[in-house]
Amino acid sequence: MQNNIHSMMLGTGVAIPEKILTNLDLEKIVDTNDEWIRERTGIKVRHVADDKLQNSDLASEAARNALADARMNAEDIDTIIVATVTGDVTFPSTACYVQQKIGAVKAAAFDIQATCSGFLFALSIADGFIASGKSKNTLIVGSELLTRIVDWKDRSTCVLFGDAAGAAVISSANGDGRGVLGTFIKTDGSLGHLLWMPGGGTRFPADVAVSENLNNIKMEGPEVFKAAVTAMGDAATHILDKTGLTPDDIKLLIPHQANTRIINATAKRLKLPEEKVYVNIQEYGNTSAASIPVALHEAKGRGLLEPGDACLMVAFGGGFTWGSAIVRV
Ligand code: COA
Repeated sequence: MQNNIHSMMLGTGVAIPEKILTNLDLEKIVDTNDEWIRERTGIKVRHVADDKLQNSDLASEAARNALADARMNAEDIDTIIVATVTGDVTFPSTACYVQQKIGAVKAAAFDIQATCSGFLFALSIADGFIASGKSKNTLIVGSELLTRIVDWKDRSTCVLFGDAAGAAVISSANGDGRGVLGTFIKTDGSLGHLLWMPGGGTRFPADVAVSENLNNIKMEGPEVFKAAVTAMGDAATHILDKTGLTPDDIKLLIPHQANTRIINATAKRLKLPEEKVYVNIQEYGNTSAASIPVALHEAKGRGLLEPGDACLMVAFGGGFTWGSAIVRV
């Protein structure tokens, strides 16, 4: 450990379903059009998992790719955290299935549920586990099959979401200055009703959920939009202050990909130029907990982040939850 850096990101990986659903495809399902979706959200296509694929299949593929990138074996992992709102079953956790599927025989595994902020919540927990000595090598995964829980009759939500998984191996820092410089996570439970899926839990069990159409995402879009702009800007400035960095020190901002207008507002508040902001929403839509690790992995692959560069990540989601992190990759 050096300079209070406890953990570092050793590898990342993704898993993206092949099948693509375009805006033109959606025009045949609901009363919408390509121009509206692109202008109001930035989305052009989203990926959709085949019916037989389970969330844990996608999560495991991303995990294996992250392990390969980190040059590690599954047996090296002592903790697995899967962030998801679309787990395979109510219980056991999707992380349990991932543990079995990748053969991480020495790992404790559990899910966390922090909607679109899930990956940053998982990163914050992993960093804390490593700082306290509870873990040496934590695998964190954001994995979602959101197309399974959208209402395909509701044009205001079904055009927004897609399926994907992204993973990262977080290990003890090696003292070279790279690693997690800081994390910040926050919640306001009073606003949960603005973005939620009511059905399927104990309050509205599955049979009630189906008969009353509660088994899908419900969202008050404009309210969520306003809260997201404020919270993501606040989270970004907070973590910059906490780590003593300025926007000039940041090589790349990786925001949660929910809407290009939210991303642009966040970048504007930080006075970051376009080339310092990673946007891939056009390709995936909103993939909730998967959006940041997928973007991070892509940005690295495209040479936009070199070892030692500072990457600012910021997210917002239902709950409401929000958070940020700065990692020297
Ligand atoms: N196609 C065409 N028209 C649509 C549409 C669609 N897919 N969805 C909504 N509309 C219509 C509305 O019915 C409304 O019509 P009206 O004026 O006749 O009533 C009009 O477009 C404007 O709707 P509104 O909801 O005010 O649009 P908006 O500009 O706020 O955009 C969202 C809607 C959902 C794109 C936007 O609010 C948003 O991105 N919110 C945040 C979503 C989010 O980030 N969620 C996840 C958080 S992690």
